[in-house]
Amino acid sequence: MSLYELFKSKGPSGFGYGSTAEEVTAGLSLEGKTYLITGCNSGLGFEAMRVLALRGARVVGTARTVEKAKEACDRVKGATVPLACELADPKSVRACVEAVKREGFRLDGIIANAGIMALPKLEQAFGYELQFFTNHIGHFILVTGLLGQLTDTGRVVMLSSAAHTRAPREGIQFDNLSGDKGYSGWTAYGQSKLANLLFAKELARRFAGTRKTANAVHPGVIQTNLGRHMNPVANVVFGLVGPLVLKSVPQGAATEVYAAVHPQAAEISGQYLADCNLASPRADGDDPAMAKALWEKSEAIVAALSSGS
Ligand SMILES: NC(=O)c1ccc[n+]([C@@H]2O[C@H](COP(=O)([O-])OP(=O)(O)OC[C@H]3O[C@@H](n4cnc5c(N)ncnc54)[C@H](OP(=O)(O)O)[C@@H]3O)[C@@H](O)[C@H]2O)c1
Repeated sequence: MSLYELFKSKGPSGFGYGSTAEEVTAGLSLEGKTYLITGCNSGLGFEAMRVLALRGARVVGTARTVEKAKEACDRVKGATVPLACELADPKSVRACVEAVKREGFRLDGIIANAGIMALPKLEQAFGYELQFFTNHIGHFILVTGLLGQLTDTGRVVMLSSAAHTRAPREGIQFDNLSGDKGYSGWTAYGQSKLANLLFAKELARRFAGTRKTANAVHPGVIQTNLGRHMNPVANVVFGLVGPLVLKSVPQGAATEVYAAVHPQAAEISGQYLADCNLASPRADGDDPAMAKALWEKSEAIVAALSSGS
């Protein structure tokens, strides 16, 4: 138990900061259900896949390569299906969508979990800043491509982060999605996580009148491979104090799993969750005009990519 956890109480859901993915699914049977999760080979994604399979679900686990996905799936007890989905490569994402359709999988949930954080130098894919492209555009292609595979009560869970508050003050910088006009690794990460949040909000609006849901979550702060681009000194400090002040990986996976499967969350949509409870994002994380503009811009980006590839 971390020291921090001692001071955090449970929220209205009955779960809280210290709850683990196993705890939030205790007593639930997910037999007959199918979930797709991206980034299944590491950190929170691996733990979420493990727990969903433990509770009887079939889990389509995606990773950058099928080898990575297979290696992760082989480490999990239960029914798993490994697929490649390199989010920075639209061809790979589209092939993943086609594979899911070909197999005829009906998805009870999609957990858009994969991500990269705080790249120290500007990197780009197809002319777009790489965190925006990977974390947002890759998932935009995947999730919109799979909407027809969702069951009538299908849930979409986007991994955002409290770090969405580090996005530019004016919100999504539509005139600098390449990063060429100025780049900071943390600001770009924040922008990509604001994009994940706005995507969930807009998708929830588009689901209105159905029983499908879309939400965004902040998992907590957990030491995983996500910190690989951080300053090595910061990583050493994290390694030393982490167990005292950070969430464990099982705790970090709890909120995404709660949003994806818990019966209490079945009617929650268009929300931002943290510690398995409703939370409040930055004010513009609730801005419908920005969410709509981002959706339309993302459609235009994807259309241009499709015509060029
Ligand atoms: N850990 C935290 O404190 C924290 C806090 C807030 C939000 N989050 C969010 O939680 C999610 C999971 O993070 P984590 O902590 O579990 O990190 P992690 O251990 O680094 O896992 C990230 C996963 O994303 C995959 N990935 C990265 N780039 C990809 C790409 N181009 N295509 C496909 N997959 C890609 C990674 O694959 P490889 O292993 O092949 O690179 C890995 O499977 C992320 O979205 C992150 O932003 C984490």
